[in-house]
Amino acid sequence: MIYLDNAATSFPKPSEVYDEVLNCMKNYAANPGRSSHDMSIQASSKIAETRQELSTLFNIDCPFDIIFTCNATESLNIAIKGLLKRGDHAISTAIEHNSVLRPLNYLSKAGVELTLLKVNMEGFIDINELEKSIEKNTKVIIINHASNVLGTIQDIEKIGSICKKYGLIFMVDASQSAGVVPIDVDKANIDLLAFPGHKGLLGPQGTGGLFIRDGVKLEHFIDGGTGSNSSSMEQPDFLPDKFESGTLNTPGIAGLYEGIKFIQKIGIENIQKHEKTLTEYLLSELKKLSYVKIYGLKSAENRAAVVSINIDNMDSSKVGYILNKNNIAVRTGYHCAPLIHRVIGTEKYGTVRISPGYFNTDKDIEDFINVIKGIYKQDSWS
Ligand SMILES: Cc1ncc(COP(=O)(O)O)c(C=O)c1O
Repeated sequence: MIYLDNAATSFPKPSEVYDEVLNCMKNYAANPGRSSHDMSIQASSKIAETRQELSTLFNIDCPFDIIFTCNATESLNIAIKGLLKRGDHAISTAIEHNSVLRPLNYLSKAGVELTLLKVNMEGFIDINELEKSIEKNTKVIIINHASNVLGTIQDIEKIGSICKKYGLIFMVDASQSAGVVPIDVDKANIDLLAFPGHKGLLGPQGTGGLFIRDGVKLEHFIDGGTGSNSSSMEQPDFLPDKFESGTLNTPGIAGLYEGIKFIQKIGIENIQKHEKTLTEYLLSELKKLSYVKIYGLKSAENRAAVVSINIDNMDSSKVGYILNKNNIAVRTGYHCAPLIHRVIGTEKYGTVRISPGYFNTDKDIEDFINVIKGIYKQDSWS
């Protein structure tokens, strides 16, 4: 299978990731932070090391300001629902994923005011419009760093500086950028950074995290055992324990550790460069096909390795079906981001999304293009 669906979850993972998940399961997957025996201490140490590696990657001062979650959706729910109260105003955008839009929609029915900024055909917000939409009760700006439909990378340093100027909290959904685009929480003034472990960070599914800047007050909504303050019925008020009730996914986090180590070994800039080269090649080949409509930016600048297309008037799911028959994995449809399709005019069929990853080659792109050419030929006969 030629796997071009890395925006959904990355595949394959570096071999070290598989090896460490198995090693952990077999040798030290005891309950972390609960007991004082060697295996439990080893599990706790691996989790602490992973927190440390994540803090290095994102330039976070204190590793305890990172909490582990199951995925980016859980991180975003903790951040959005923990932060916003009746009467608060939140600003977000039309290019967000449902893991942002749905919690916001839910809260808007409970008295939270919401502004969703428009984006242009390339997926960019208008910074002036952002500034104009700030109200007295605005508490937070929530932005998708890189779009999972168009790949568009927003200027988070600029948006972060506006948040700083107006004293707003800045929340970034780094689902499509963590591990493939450098992120520095201090440079971009990020207060809340939600990220999955199973996409660009090359870890297993069931991993994710949230950075919570010291001083940002979030309510928690899961109470339970944390292994700390166990003689009290009160949920601990300190990080990470406040948000990490219940047994953590130690084997997944151990695999994530190796994913991050791999990124550091290769260098995030080199990973980004490779993915950019593949995206540039893909776009240049697609542009030669008159029957292919490419959405969003026409070059690989300011975009993650995510490309949405359609072939003529074909339903995207039909294209995906034929690609699958030809051993090529892509995603089709709406990609859990309903509003952006109204902007790019793809409400009817969605798009075919191609998302290469670090392990893809030029040959994969060539094979994909050849199948696309075949699909068009065949469809114009039928
Ligand atoms: C932009 C964006 N946000 C959030 C998510 C949710 O990520 P997860 O599946 O880790 O919950 C995704 C997943 O595709 C995404 O692309």
